[in-house]
Amino acid sequence: MTTIDLSPLLRAHRSIRKYKSTPIAPALIDEVLSESIAGSSSSGNLNTFSMVLTRDAERRRRLFQLHLEQDMVLQAPLVITFNADTARTRQWLKMREARDNFNNFHGFMVAAFDAVILSQTVALAFEARGLGICYMGTTLNQASAIAEFLQLPETVFPVTSLVVGYPDEAPKARDRLPLRAYVHDEIYRPHSEAEIDALYEAREVSGWNRYLGMGPDMAARFAEHDIKSLAQFYTSELKYSPIAMGKISEQLQALLQEQGFDRKS
Ligand SMILES: Cc1cc2nc3c(=O)[nH]c(=O)nc-3n(C[C@H](O)[C@H](O)[C@H](O)COP(=O)(O)O)c2cc1C
Repeated sequence: MTTIDLSPLLRAHRSIRKYKSTPIAPALIDEVLSESIAGSSSSGNLNTFSMVLTRDAERRRRLFQLHLEQDMVLQAPLVITFNADTARTRQWLKMREARDNFNNFHGFMVAAFDAVILSQTVALAFEARGLGICYMGTTLNQASAIAEFLQLPETVFPVTSLVVGYPDEAPKARDRLPLRAYVHDEIYRPHSEAEIDALYEAREVSGWNRYLGMGPDMAARFAEHDIKSLAQFYTSELKYSPIAMGKISEQLQALLQEQGFDRKS
């Protein structure tokens, strides 16, 4: 087997949040998607995912609202919503008089893994061709409204989205924690407080400065919310508020039921 050096591609990864309006050739999109499907592992090779492409400017404007008005949804010519999708498989099973399945929580989990694995392959395949991507976590915040907007049927659930386009910025690489933060040898060994201090030391400076630099009024907003550290920012009303996250969690559980991933036995 020939080896391919993926390092330059991985090292060049940046989430891109500013895009040119240059359209992406439909043939290039088809090529990326079909190669990515072929190049992604999938549980049982059932390929329990689907993608909805949003290119139409008016429909992107509506998605822009659903994605909490993140400008890149308006700028980038393509938004791909990745769905955990057992509907097509279940339809096939039914047509062949096989037993119904995959309309349960396990089915959802496996389909969600399939969809997310595919999304990252698609991200790399676009990046390898010089395009930029950014994931849209707001897919989960607005999953119910997005499912309705995209007319997703039973046992199809939006798990993540990518905006894709030609970059109009060249941001610096974002930091990661040292490798030892993520890797455990043979057994899991919780970090001591001193290790957490050391692991987060650099990020607590770079992250704080980054968020502080996001707008002229950020210092005032931090003060208003009594935010004194990066950690406090992350669970404040300005970022991942536990109250908002709790509400979204309830909505996601309800949507799992509404979309029919609720079979018990
Ligand atoms: C599941 C997921 C959801 C994300 N959602 C958003 C988002 O809604 N808006 C945004 O600007 N970036 C979003 N991102 C991008 C992350 O902020 C980004 O990957 C992270 O800060 C690391 O930066 P990098 O990708 O440039 O290395 C998301 C990333 C992931 C994996």
